[in-house]
Amino acid sequence: MTPTPPSTYTPTEDFVQNAHVDAAKYDVLYAASIEDPEGFWREQGKRVDWIKPFTQVKDVSYDFGNVGIKWYADGTLNVAANCVDRHLAKRGDQTAIIWEPDDPKDPAQHITYKDLHTSVCKMANVLETLGVSKGDRVVIYMPMIPEAAYAMLACARVGAIHSIVFAGFSPDALAARINGCDAKLVITADEAPRGGKKTPLKTNADAALSQCADAVQCLVVRRTGGDVPWNDARDRDYSKLSEGANLTHTPAEMNAEDPLFILYTSGSTGQPKGVVHTTGGYLVYASLTQEVTFDYHDGDVYWCTADVGWVTGHSYIVYGPLANGATTVMFEGVPTYPDASRFWQVCEKHKVNQFYTAPTAIRALMGQGNEFVEKCDLSSLRLLGTVGEPINPEAWTWYNDIVGGGRCPIVDTWWQTETGGHLMTPLPGAHATKPGSAMKPFFGIEPVVLDPASGDEITGNDVEGVLCIKDSWPGQMRTVWGDHDRFEKTYFSDYKGYYFTGDGCRRDADGDYWITGRVDDVINVSGHRMGTAEVESALVAHATVAEAAVVGYPHDIKGQGIYCYVTLMNGETPSEELRKELRTWVRSEIGPIASPDVIQWAPGLPKTRSGKIMRRILRKIAENDYGALGDTSTLADPSVVDDLIANRAET
Ligand code: WTA
Repeated sequence: MTPTPPSTYTPTEDFVQNAHVDAAKYDVLYAASIEDPEGFWREQGKRVDWIKPFTQVKDVSYDFGNVGIKWYADGTLNVAANCVDRHLAKRGDQTAIIWEPDDPKDPAQHITYKDLHTSVCKMANVLETLGVSKGDRVVIYMPMIPEAAYAMLACARVGAIHSIVFAGFSPDALAARINGCDAKLVITADEAPRGGKKTPLKTNADAALSQCADAVQCLVVRRTGGDVPWNDARDRDYSKLSEGANLTHTPAEMNAEDPLFILYTSGSTGQPKGVVHTTGGYLVYASLTQEVTFDYHDGDVYWCTADVGWVTGHSYIVYGPLANGATTVMFEGVPTYPDASRFWQVCEKHKVNQFYTAPTAIRALMGQGNEFVEKCDLSSLRLLGTVGEPINPEAWTWYNDIVGGGRCPIVDTWWQTETGGHLMTPLPGAHATKPGSAMKPFFGIEPVVLDPASGDEITGNDVEGVLCIKDSWPGQMRTVWGDHDRFEKTYFSDYKGYYFTGDGCRRDADGDYWITGRVDDVINVSGHRMGTAEVESALVAHATVAEAAVVGYPHDIKGQGIYCYVTLMNGETPSEELRKELRTWVRSEIGPIASPDVIQWAPGLPKTRSGKIMRRILRKIAENDYGALGDTSTLADPSVVDDLIANRAET
């Protein structure tokens, strides 16, 4: 259970005075959003420009077997027009994107809304030249460069559905995603500089494309100008094609419920699933949460350090901020290059007002010492945010005291790829915060704590259980790409009538929420979500491995580390070399983020008599917590457990 916090932190008088939402306003708006969701979201729907205004607001069924989610279903709009064109009159010369390159010696770029318009139109025209049109799928496999944002917006402009694959994923993982959504085109770059090293993106894309249909084309943006292999039949050079491209483009008229993007994410079983977000509701939700949670005001410089390969990059680097006409920072590098002060130097250089990052980065930087922070002028910072995993109170307090100088509210935002935007977070001008608590539901969100066994709602405070959400919100995912049954089964079958989040949670004595972590077989490694089943299937794909079971264990920096129990084929001998080889193997099957931290050789795995692996026991051993192994009498061979304990690997 999460420890009781030492204290609560109240926003300054000054912050509250200027905030979009103070405590009284939160109470009124929250109550209104729950009592009359139609009325609330009808009003919020006006945040975006519609081509044909909607008359319907909400059409939702959570009934298992018949789940359907629609918002603003008869309206039409274009997301790129909302994120770019509609700002031209008022803020054409304002910076839309500040791009900070990997190497601080290289110049930053300030891209105005006018520039952004030209670049997005050019890319939209190039996409159309390549035969991409409404409803086609385009995979984006890019470094954190402005062209990644142009590519997203260009897809939205022509009505194509993008699916971004994080540039750290391996060729195999990329191929699975290209094939999974039947993409027509892959947009990539020659190389991705990161932390002074270069990832050979084009070479990776080639390896992936060798596993895909010949018809899939590859559009290559030049980032480093490095030499890359070229296949005239498949590859298209963006610099050449964009040279003569038209500088204007008429955005496609999209229905509110047309898909905007697919993003693959891990679940507790099987391979990653394609989360589908649609056009109207997603944009309304991303825009509202970006403004309110971060208390974004005109003229602010806002920085979310995520990668566009994750949902955070979609909603809070690109779509939310640009829909609001904000100035958003896009950073190509890593927090520790050239040294551990990089984040803070970028904050100083661009006078960042709102800074949003992951707890794992905070923990890593905290370990480097305060001088890296203190040598930078962070007086521009007004608000800090975290996302992706629970933040421990020590890291929270360091972030608050050392980075925020004690004057910046911290918004600990809990949400998921599936939710499109924040579902729980303190609002910075409305709520006193508690280190480690996601505090309060956002407007329109009704969290419920359920008893995992009975599925009944647990009412009252100071309770713990499984976290579900009672009703829909506009940013909710609509389906799993190509597999609506899987969507229903994953999110609506265990607890009928609710959206099941997969997280556990506690509602404390004051009624504030604390996320306690996943209750399924998903682990969270450095804020990256991973299915243990994916790592297991990568391991057993190796010729020497007979069986594997993977669990998470507490890790000081990463939050959770990856602990693998591996049973070798008969006749194979465990060795350090084999351990190394298996690590490399998993990296190449999935990507470096899935690299096993610990591999323990397991002559046998604890199984029930029906052959089911008892992960609860494996988790306890990995956590070094044998006292609480629970009942092992149902195991087929209880002696397996003693062997695993005796040979537990150091963590
Ligand atoms: C976890 C990232 C605690 C949670 C936006 C969730 C968090 C999963 C928080 C989704 C938070 C995210 N506190 N846990 N503030 N934010 N999580 O899809 O377990 O990559 O279910 O979305 O991350 O991860 P995803």
